[in-house]
Amino acid sequence: MCGITGYIGHRKAYPIVINGLKRLEYRGYDSAGVMMFDGDQMHLSKTKGKVSDLEEITNKETYRQEGNIGMGHTRWATHGVPNDINSHPHFSESGDLVIVHNGIIENYDTIKKELITRGYTFQSDTDTEVLVNLIEEVKKQEGCKLGKAVQIALTQVIGAYAIAVFDKTKPNEIIVARLGSPIAIGVGKDLGEFFVASDASPFIEFTKDAIYLEDEEMAIIKLGKEVKVRKIMDDSLVDANIQELQLSLEQIEKGGYDHFMLKEIHEQPKAIIDTYRGRMLADEGIIKMAGVDDNIEKFMNADRIIIVACGTSWHAGLVGEYLFEDMARVPVEVEYASEFRYRNPIITPKDVVIAISQSGETADTLAAIKLAKSKGAFVFGVCNVVGSSIARETHAGAYTHAGPEIGVASTKAFTTQITVLSLIALKLAKAKGTLSNSAFHMYLQKMQLIPSKVEKLLQIDNKVKEIASVYKDAKNCLYLGRGFNFPVALEGALKLKEISYIHAEGYPAAEMKHGPIALIDENMPIFVIATNKGHYEKVVSNIQEIKSRSGKIIAIVTEGDVTVKEIADHVIEIPDTEEALTPLLTTIPLQLLSYHIAVMLDKNVDQPRNLAKSVTVE
Ligand code: F6R
Repeated sequence: MCGITGYIGHRKAYPIVINGLKRLEYRGYDSAGVMMFDGDQMHLSKTKGKVSDLEEITNKETYRQEGNIGMGHTRWATHGVPNDINSHPHFSESGDLVIVHNGIIENYDTIKKELITRGYTFQSDTDTEVLVNLIEEVKKQEGCKLGKAVQIALTQVIGAYAIAVFDKTKPNEIIVARLGSPIAIGVGKDLGEFFVASDASPFIEFTKDAIYLEDEEMAIIKLGKEVKVRKIMDDSLVDANIQELQLSLEQIEKGGYDHFMLKEIHEQPKAIIDTYRGRMLADEGIIKMAGVDDNIEKFMNADRIIIVACGTSWHAGLVGEYLFEDMARVPVEVEYASEFRYRNPIITPKDVVIAISQSGETADTLAAIKLAKSKGAFVFGVCNVVGSSIARETHAGAYTHAGPEIGVASTKAFTTQITVLSLIALKLAKAKGTLSNSAFHMYLQKMQLIPSKVEKLLQIDNKVKEIASVYKDAKNCLYLGRGFNFPVALEGALKLKEISYIHAEGYPAAEMKHGPIALIDENMPIFVIATNKGHYEKVVSNIQEIKSRSGKIIAIVTEGDVTVKEIADHVIEIPDTEEALTPLLTTIPLQLLSYHIAVMLDKNVDQPRNLAKSVTVE
């Protein structure tokens, strides 16, 4: 939920740390701070606000030119409001130790009270300041080195953390540790330098070699030496597994677009191809997915499929429900991970649980997976971030291969998740014989055409912009869809509210008359998905009902539509495809619409208020 960067080596640390923070800002952006060590003193700058606010402060500091060791933090507040004092890094009581932390220490209050009785004082309201003082106290009591003190202290805390700690009295090392929050170490082999970050993006231009710590592991990073990785609980040494990064600098830059969100919307044709590349061989009529192939019996014999996810991924899960039930004739339940994990759900070893998560770090989804595993269910992950916690925690899985998604509002994650779910549903339907051979082949052929259809849709951007300009000042909006496009209505509403702060609701079109119809007047824009095969006549009746109450209708229809065009105030046409595949198309104009409205309202599209890209807290 927060972003951590650090550097120890021979280069100037400041530019590496500050640029790293800019790349990690998607993780949290309510306050930011840096610590730079000039060889003698630690210099601290921190502030409420964004990394750019921090830079205004650090621009005046001479330490920017000095020092080869530094660490930085961009925060999404948990304990203590966002203000200068609560921002990280935090010093220990003596001022010798400094820490940056991502996560939550749940028993911080008990530890804090104990430390107060030992004479410690606290400047901030954070759990992080408690942790750095606990480490200092252990170091004092045990008379040990920093690494050992960190290890002992961490056995006493309950919660989640990714931390980096530095001791100015032993300024040749940084200690990092992880439980529940990610941390990567970039290994600059030739120069004996090291980078620390919540993900690899801050150091991608310096090294392709990275070590990802596992839960309950810590690393002692010594300048010019090899990284030593240990288990926190039993202090045993672990082989430091150096992986070669596939990420490129280009992938994490805006590439000429004004915002990451717009870039990611436009990347969807390629992202969808990358998702099915090597898996779907349309001409041969084959879908190969190792994670499914190796466990096909489990899928075939499942009493039901339970999909767990949050937010946009949950909406993709709802599309999955329609796909699996329609094609593979298996009962599906789609659960908010946050509800599922706490309501004592009935799960049996005959259930297959599919966990969907772009980041692979969402705390509630991770907890739901652990619960399902403890009840004996087979758990399959659909993640975007390779090597993420959820990808590691699940029994098997399929990556979406969408590439890094940096805009906080999910776009290409959604369409690629639906692509993976479509492939699994089709594969299962074929294996079970619930879909005829000809229908299976037809779907593969139609799926192959989707990227070019998305490309074509992206070209109507100007039209969508025009519609956005008409409705940008609306106070409330309604999104309606049926069948496969009901989840798209939910997703359209979520996109609008999260980046433009306009209140929006998604509803199944037919439910409108059971309540939301009362909201309709001439000021209410209503986005209706009315594709030609999806209960078309019924949706047309819903549109008539809206019209007769003076609501403004923006309809998403199939190319060549005549009926809705006559009634609606605006229509956006999507290319024709099978109904089950329409969510991959209908969602595109809704993403563009939210984007343009947010830009017109001068909102921060990529970093909407109060949100963060990966929600690693409950
Ligand atoms: C909305 C959005 C969030 C995420 C949700 C789950 O645009 O991005 O609703 O979908 O926080 O995140 P993941 O998919 O990373 O588990």
